[in-house]
Amino acid sequence: MKYLIGSVSALALSLLASSAYAQCDDGEMVIKFSHVVAASGHPKGDAATMLADRINDEMNGTACMEVYPNSTLYDDDKVMEALLLGDVQLAAPSLSKFEAYTKKYRLFDLPFLFSSLDAVNSFINSEDGKGMLTIMEDEGYTGMGYWMSGLKQFSANKPLEVPSDASGLKFRVQTSDVAVAMIEAMDASAQKLAFSEVYSALQTGVVDGQENSWCNIYTQKFFEVQDGITNTNHQLLSYLLVTSTEWLEGLDEEVRNQFVSIVEDVTKQANDDVAQKEETCRQNIVDANGEIRELTEEQRSQWLETMKPVWEQFEDDIGADLIKAAEGSNS
Ligand code: LMR
Repeated sequence: MKYLIGSVSALALSLLASSAYAQCDDGEMVIKFSHVVAASGHPKGDAATMLADRINDEMNGTACMEVYPNSTLYDDDKVMEALLLGDVQLAAPSLSKFEAYTKKYRLFDLPFLFSSLDAVNSFINSEDGKGMLTIMEDEGYTGMGYWMSGLKQFSANKPLEVPSDASGLKFRVQTSDVAVAMIEAMDASAQKLAFSEVYSALQTGVVDGQENSWCNIYTQKFFEVQDGITNTNHQLLSYLLVTSTEWLEGLDEEVRNQFVSIVEDVTKQANDDVAQKEETCRQNIVDANGEIRELTEEQRSQWLETMKPVWEQFEDDIGADLIKAAEGSNS
């Protein structure tokens, strides 16, 4: 692998500036990683760069990783096809985006399931959590790890303090039926949209509000086109680092072992850093004069009460035992 200093095109220059883009040498296996968020200042963007740096350093001569952030290569729907076609080798869509392949990941979208990122960490490292990494193998995908992002917050073009404030509004959601049910429980309507379309949909009034992590709200500048953000912590945003099972199994054993071991290290480190990164993004919004609303205990219990019935709707798809196991990680 060599970095493209010296003879770079404008495109290559911008990729160099925004990602761990590298030019691979002849004979090196190219690992392309496509994702949709900011290249830096975001848990996923930073983790992808960290992974590329490790691969490009420790597997130099054997493998070379190129990272394509910001939906520059694919959005989260298209990237799943691209993995099977061998056009990319790694992606990390949020767990809300696998509905076409499994309904089990609906677990992670249940509102107010996890009370903290520590609880999420404990669940994903449990036997149940680890077992869920491989449930899409029949579809040709292997999960290599969970990359956490943070808990989600609501924002809208008017103040949201209690769920009834959202009545009649339209919210952008990811491609998740749990998210749709949650928004409908608030007497609002949901529109599924690709991440790259959210800013302009908010700006032009196609939708009134959205829900996302502090780092997505900050790095995508959603806060600039919303009245304010309400600190609801109502749902998890976590990713599945996913690859094609055929590609992974086709690697030479030694290469695969080294690759998997680097992925495991980076996954652990990235997850350890998430809380701090999310707090920095929250503070960046405050510093940029974004309005953040805190809930009283009474207001928070109204959000919980409004959303709790959503669980029952998805219990059969997920499995009551799995829900119980995840809930147990809160204690
Ligand atoms: C979204 O679509 O809101 C998120 O999945 C984007 C991301 O990858 O964080």
